[in-house]
Amino acid sequence: MTDDEFEVTDNAMSARAKSRTAPGEPGGGGAAPPERSEGEREPVLSDVAAVEEREVEASLRPKRFDEFVGQPKVREQLQLVLESAKRRNRPPDHVLLSGPPGLGKTSLAMIIAAELGTPIRVTSGPAIERAGDLAALLTSLAEGEVLFIDEIHRIARPAEELLYMAMEDFRVDVIVGKGPGATAIPLDLEAFTLVGATTRAGLLTGPLRDRFGFTAHMDFYDAAELELVLRRSAELLAVDLRADGAAEIASRSRGTPRIANRLLRRVRDYAEVRADGIVTESIAQAALAVYDVDELGLDRLDRAVLDALVRRFGGGPVGVGTLAVAVGEEVETVEEVAEPFLVRAGLLARTPRGRVATPAAWSHLELVPPSGSGGPTLFDA
Ligand SMILES: Nc1ncnc2c1ncn2[C@@H]1O[C@H](COP(=O)(O)OP(=O)(O)OP(=O)(O)O)[C@@H](O)[C@H]1O
Ligand SMILES: [Mg+2]
Repeated sequence: MTDDEFEVTDNAMSARAKSRTAPGEPGGGGAAPPERSEGEREPVLSDVAAVEEREVEASLRPKRFDEFVGQPKVREQLQLVLESAKRRNRPPDHVLLSGPPGLGKTSLAMIIAAELGTPIRVTSGPAIERAGDLAALLTSLAEGEVLFIDEIHRIARPAEELLYMAMEDFRVDVIVGKGPGATAIPLDLEAFTLVGATTRAGLLTGPLRDRFGFTAHMDFYDAAELELVLRRSAELLAVDLRADGAAEIASRSRGTPRIANRLLRRVRDYAEVRADGIVTESIAQAALAVYDVDELGLDRLDRAVLDALVRRFGGGPVGVGTLAVAVGEEVETVEEVAEPFLVRAGLLARTPRGRVATPAAWSHLELVPPSGSGGPTLFDA
């Protein structure tokens, strides 16, 4: 599986972002959720955090490595980087955190600063419009401070070029004046550690990528790890979460702690309003049925795509354009919002001849693949 399949493009982000502003959350007492126009994902399954959600997220964020669940490889590597820097009494190398939304990049950045015992300055690629903004920020950093640049792939080019020298030599050239009279004034910076986060490492330019001493590749969480995330969050939110309830929510969370935490809050709502507040397997099932989240964590768009592929096109191969028309969506929406998870869940394959349903897709829809079709087309790619 390539990185590509995990990536969320700006289009998909905005398709999801739209759904945040959709009026009314779904789930009003079992009534049909409000109609969504095309390209919108059920907010409950979006891997992007809504604005109001950030506050809750901050309260659930792990503060130290020992609270950070899962990602054992990344944690071990990072701990070594930090520990050795502490022993040498030098700021650690610049760190790049790469991975899909909601897997804990921001959390890790905060943990890095906390473990180093240094303050952290937070900004993001899109916020740095001019090189001057970045120069001002860099020159104000104290020795050893951590600078966190979220969505670093979206930084403006002139600022990025300034960043090269800052990262490598702890120096910036500030250009004063314009045209032939312009002069570059070199300014020394305190040694700092840049922590960059990106959902799209592929979009980073080579020179920028090369200046990070360590890149952490975050991966989706397995069910057992998500259960630990859920147990921790339940404790913080004072929710009575039973083991079978945790397992049920974890299995529908698309490998993403952010989604797990959100589903937990929705199931808690249901448990408090319709039951005794205790989150068990059956309560989780009933609650998630209200929110249209199925056993695999697929939502309506995902299921519509699978359904069209299997029922209308006999499992494919079919072109993505045709598939998009069949479900009444834009091609980009199908490609960027629905397909990444379907591919990752092993339900859909992208082949040069078109999209193909896997046997798992047929059985998820409780259908039997016709013999002699479906199977072989998977492998002639
Ligand atoms: N390893 C983890 N252990 C416990 N909770 C986690 C972990 N990773 C993420 N979370 C939870 O998921 C939420 C989202 O994590 P975070 O904001 O760090 O993700 P992100 O990768 O920065 O996402 P984005 O790409 O959207 O910025 C956090 O509030 C935190 O509660
Ligand atoms: Mg983040």
